[in-house]
Amino acid sequence: MNKKLWGGRFNKQTNQLVEAFNASISFDCRLYNEDIRGSKAHAAMLANCGIISSAEAEAITTGLDEILSDINNDNFTFEQSLEDIHMNIEHRLTERIGDAGAKLHTARSRNDQVALDMHMYVKKEVAETAKLLLNLQQVLINLASQHQKTIMPGYTHLQRAQPITMAHHLLAYYNMFARDFRRLKGVYEGADIMPLGAGAIAGTTLPIDRHFVAEQLSFSQIYANSMDAVSDRDYVIEYLAFASTCMMHLSRLSEEIILWSSTEFGFIELDDAFSTGSSMMPQKKNPDIAELVRGKTGRVYGHLQAMLTTLKGLPLTYNKDMQEDKEGLFDTIDTLKFSLQVYADMLDTMTVNVDKLYQCVSKDFSNATDLADYLVKKGLPFRKAHEVVGKCVRYAIEQQRYLTEISLSEYQQFSELFTEDLLEAIKIETCVAARNSYGGPAYEQTAFQLTRAQEDLNQEQLVVEYFEQNA
Ligand code: ARG
Repeated sequence: MNKKLWGGRFNKQTNQLVEAFNASISFDCRLYNEDIRGSKAHAAMLANCGIISSAEAEAITTGLDEILSDINNDNFTFEQSLEDIHMNIEHRLTERIGDAGAKLHTARSRNDQVALDMHMYVKKEVAETAKLLLNLQQVLINLASQHQKTIMPGYTHLQRAQPITMAHHLLAYYNMFARDFRRLKGVYEGADIMPLGAGAIAGTTLPIDRHFVAEQLSFSQIYANSMDAVSDRDYVIEYLAFASTCMMHLSRLSEEIILWSSTEFGFIELDDAFSTGSSMMPQKKNPDIAELVRGKTGRVYGHLQAMLTTLKGLPLTYNKDMQEDKEGLFDTIDTLKFSLQVYADMLDTMTVNVDKLYQCVSKDFSNATDLADYLVKKGLPFRKAHEVVGKCVRYAIEQQRYLTEISLSEYQQFSELFTEDLLEAIKIETCVAARNSYGGPAYEQTAFQLTRAQEDLNQEQLVVEYFEQNA
């Protein structure tokens, strides 16, 4: 018996290899919730428009609800011969309720059906991702507020540059993730367009009501063009692009965590619960989580590249190539969500070695720019001040001393602009406190940035609630 839903046109059974090659059920089974919700809304619309009877719509709804609970209770066998989630569910429905089930696909194609499921799925996952992203941002804010006074070296070229605070460093990451959140809102917008009713390509001759479906499923927009509706995968690309950027940020932070937890830096210590040991070397404590997040970033980039490449040569409208949109997206969503979750907990439990950080800034030349600024404030052009301080630094290095250890009379050999107040000006605490330009690391600026960040975060919390209500 040929139980294919397109059986009418065919004389032969599908080749076994073709069946296996063609099937997407092994991965698109994860769309079962969306598929059932979408079908229920579609059936309700068909009844509302007088295309099927309300008794038929009720039978469909009850049948779909039973299938849903069967799937949830592991009581449903997905069959490869039925290719995908859409046909698995529809076939089982018709087996159960007969003719009414066979009417469900009226005025619908799998092309607009799969598009609907994917839009709903992405909307739901945007809500989940958003929650985890905000949680990570909150952890960064909390850590930053604990370390407003924790002075540490800031780096350029991985060479010590100027003194900053741990709070300032962490807030830089907070801001990157805040931009990721903004991008995520864009992903939601792209996914929040309702494709059903586009049919296979060119709509339908039946009197459907697409607005009804959109309202039932909480979509704020409807595709204005049926061909665009079944061909559009921009929202998939947008999620992948957002995820790639977000993973890139996590990966950069990972690089720092890995460096900072080495003996050479010794800036932080990861909690035992968030580190791993070595099977051979008893002394080891490895930052595997950070390394894995850094490693997984490559794979997420790969999914973005793959999707862009898959779509680039496709003529309108649906082509089977588009079935390839799923595995990469699913893997990206799983990878990013897992990374965000584990990262937040890892940061939350790490110990910052405040003393070690302070030692590093007091035993280096991070305050050289401050010494130059001192001369600038006394009227010397910056380029000249740079030259003078360069000489002071060379002198100190030759003497194996730091700038705070050179006496005033020694300084005065380099410029008569140096006076008593110089030693105060190059004290590390002063150097941080005086960097009070907007966006700088001064304590005052940090307090301001922290308040702003928390306010923004509270606003974004409302956005997450909106996502959740409309997913
Ligand atoms: N499994 C297919 C996919 O994921 C569903 C749509 C198939 N449509 C079709 N006409 N073959 O893209």
